[in-house]
This record gives sequence, C-alpha cells and structure tokens, in this order.
Amino acid sequence: MKITFLGHNTLLITIEEKQVLIDPFISGNPLSKDIIDINEIKADYILLTHAHQDHILDAEAIAKNNNATIVSNFEITSNYEKKGIKVHPMNHGGKWNFDFGTVRYVNAIHTSSFPDGSYGGQPGGFVVEANGKVIYIAGDTALTMDMKLIPMQTTLDLAILPVGDNFTMGVDDAIIASDFVACDKVLGVHYDTFGYIVIDKEEAKEKFASKNKELILLEIGQDITI
Ligand code: NI
Ligand code: MN
Repeated sequence: MKITFLGHNTLLITIEEKQVLIDPFISGNPLSKDIIDINEIKADYILLTHAHQDHILDAEAIAKNNNATIVSNFEITSNYEKKGIKVHPMNHGGKWNFDFGTVRYVNAIHTSSFPDGSYGGQPGGFVVEANGKVIYIAGDTALTMDMKLIPMQTTLDLAILPVGDNFTMGVDDAIIASDFVACDKVLGVHYDTFGYIVIDKEEAKEKFASKNKELILLEIGQDITI
C-alpha cells in the first residue's frame, strides 16, 4: 500500500485501485491548504478517527464529491448519514472486511466532539490490513496500555503515531508506544500544524534512532510504500 501524507493526520492510502482517505483536514490547515486541492482528491472510503474539526473538516465535501463511504464510530457515522452520505458504522474492538482490506476500530484516549459541540462518541484509531501489510493509525491519543493489545492480534508493518504533544502523545511517549505496538517503523503525524504542536523534527528523528527505531516525517504530498 502507498501512503501519501496530506498534512496533520490526513493520509491518502492507495490499495490497488481503491483510495482510502484518513481524517481529511486540508482547507483549514495553513500548511496544506495552498498545496492540496480537496476537489482533486479521489476517495472510495473516508475513515474518521474522531469528530474534532482538525480531523473531519473536509470529510463532507470530499465524501459528496466522490460518493465515498465514511467509516467511523456510530455517533460520527449517524451524523453523516443524516446529510445523505454513505456510511459504515463501527465501534471499538470490532473489525470488518471491506473490499480493500480489513479495518479494526481500536481504542484511543482523547475526546471527541463535533465543531458545534455535539457528541462525537468515543475517539478511536484504526488497524488496516490489506495485501498482506498491516498499519496502525493511532489517531489522536495519549500513550495507553491498550496499545499492547494490537501485537497480540496482528503484526504491524507501520505505526502511524501522533508526535506533536500537548493534545496527544509527544515524541518520547510515541517511542514507548512503538514498543507497545511492537513496530519500530513509525510515521509521525499531528505536528507543526499549530503553535501548540510545533516540534524539532531532527531531534525527534534522533531520539527514535537512539532506540534503534525509525521515525519517518514526510513533506506534505510526499508518500511511502510499504
Ligand atoms: Ni482531536
Ligand atoms: Mn487533532
């Protein structure tokens, strides 16, 4: 699978001919809004970790442009279903076989409300398995012992973890999370977008390297294939 970083926690995952978009926040992201045009994004599915604005801002527009299916917790999908968007509701611990691969909605420690304050259910992350590769998209979360469940269920090829601190784990906790999920290859997300989450990228990479781990930090629009 090819994973393209579109800024913040926004990722476009290409699995053969299917496009799976994660947490679209582009038009409001000062770092990506002039680089990425949401009207050019092709998506078959949109996976939303939680309801905060910096994860869902462009979900409705991109879903409508593409007749895409939104996959998230029950509260979030109910919200989009009322807008006439195709949805697939999930909840924590459950998995489903989609036509691109298997998705499990897993625990996260965070909060989840829509921009208008309405309830967004409990936040989560996703474990996506497709074409023999497995990735963990943590979403916004603290370091949590529940991460230790993941390697009991599967073997990860890549962990996508927040590293920006303040609202989520920071770099030091992400290194511990990498141990918890038993995956030394980490794609860092949720950093630099706002003043609260600006990080020293070289120092972060060196900290991971000192533990024999790899921290990948992509430029907006850059991709990796696993
Ligand atoms: Ni959040
Ligand atoms: Mn966030």
